[in-house]
Amino acid sequence: MRILVTGGAGYIGSVLVPKLLARGHEVRVVDRMFWGLPHYADEPGVELVNADVRRMPEGVLDGIDAVDHLAGFSNDPTAEFSPEANWQMNAVATETIAALCKTSGVHRLVFGSSCSLYDGAEEDGLLDEQAALAPRGAYATSKRYSEEALLRHAGDDFEPVVLRQATVFGASPRMRFDLVINAFVKDALVRQRLILHGGGRMWRPLVSVNDLADAHVGCLEAPSELVAGETFNVVGENYQVRELAEVVAAALVKLGKPVALEDGPLPKIVRNYKCSGEKLRKRLDLELPTTATVAVAELVDLYGKTPVEHLGHPKYYNIAWMELLEQVRPAYQAMQNIFEPIEE
Ligand SMILES: NC(=O)c1ccc[n+]([C@@H]2O[C@H](COP(=O)([O-])OP(=O)(O)OC[C@H]3O[C@@H](n4cnc5c(N)ncnc54)[C@H](O)[C@@H]3O)[C@@H](O)[C@H]2O)c1
Repeated sequence: MRILVTGGAGYIGSVLVPKLLARGHEVRVVDRMFWGLPHYADEPGVELVNADVRRMPEGVLDGIDAVDHLAGFSNDPTAEFSPEANWQMNAVATETIAALCKTSGVHRLVFGSSCSLYDGAEEDGLLDEQAALAPRGAYATSKRYSEEALLRHAGDDFEPVVLRQATVFGASPRMRFDLVINAFVKDALVRQRLILHGGGRMWRPLVSVNDLADAHVGCLEAPSELVAGETFNVVGENYQVRELAEVVAAALVKLGKPVALEDGPLPKIVRNYKCSGEKLRKRLDLELPTTATVAVAELVDLYGKTPVEHLGHPKYYNIAWMELLEQVRPAYQAMQNIFEPIEE
């Protein structure tokens, strides 16, 4: 197939695109390249389009068989940084892309939504796809709008698949250290101290980036009767935050670096919920097997010897990077062409 991946240069996309290429698909990536060109840029079968999903270039869906839509602000702090831009990217653009798919004859669209739609749920126990939604804040609200818009467009000529992704963990060539497990690994390496707000009793649904990418591949390739118009939670396992900190601390002990776990005050917004990933597992016969222990060991292996100053680089933290880009933008515009030699 020829698959268009929006946001394919990001944390998840950088793991997903090589998997699609390895399975013989051709991939067109539409991305603003906030973090530069992806590592797979020169691979055969890849076409990069540096464009904003709010203004999809004409003809960008020509020859495309399926879309995987990941682009946009990808966490609460960046969405709150500019709620208006967030709404355009994470809500309006999704609906526009759905309409474009329909006029271009593209049937399948897999959407990277979020388990944070259940965030304010009052229910206890495992939340499945039928549970009441309770999005809090600009980010989750825009994701809900996108889900509804996609499903509104669903029909014989358009097959959206909504993936409510748990918080993702693990190594990616476009690394993020602002996601709970990855952040704990970074904090443990840098400060040898982890703060457990509210004692770390809160539950969080999690999934590894590698397993999540497999779920996207599965949904892009699955026959219509299994996935068309469906919503799936993508959850490897639910963990209590304290349990994650203990996994990270145990991995660092093996490096000879003991880590102190310290209790901190409850945060202003408490996130505490568990989700079931059974529907997707059963429907696609998928395992999503990577545990936090396995991924943490891999991260410690990859970053255990990295100088700690490097781990604090803003590029690993979406909001820090966005703020930096915004600060340097006027200077960057003013110094355009400064490195080009002047013709005598
Ligand atoms: N990482 C997680 O834990 C997680 C959990 C649930 C849902 N999600 C969703 O999955 C998707 C991908 O997440 P990620 O972790 O890979 O995020 P990311 O921030 O690493 O990647 C997003 C990519 O989209 C691009 N992008 C942003 N705005 C754009 C625009 N207007 N036009 C074109 N490109 C644009 C960026 O350059 C980046 O390459 C997002 O929609 C996010 O909301 C992520």
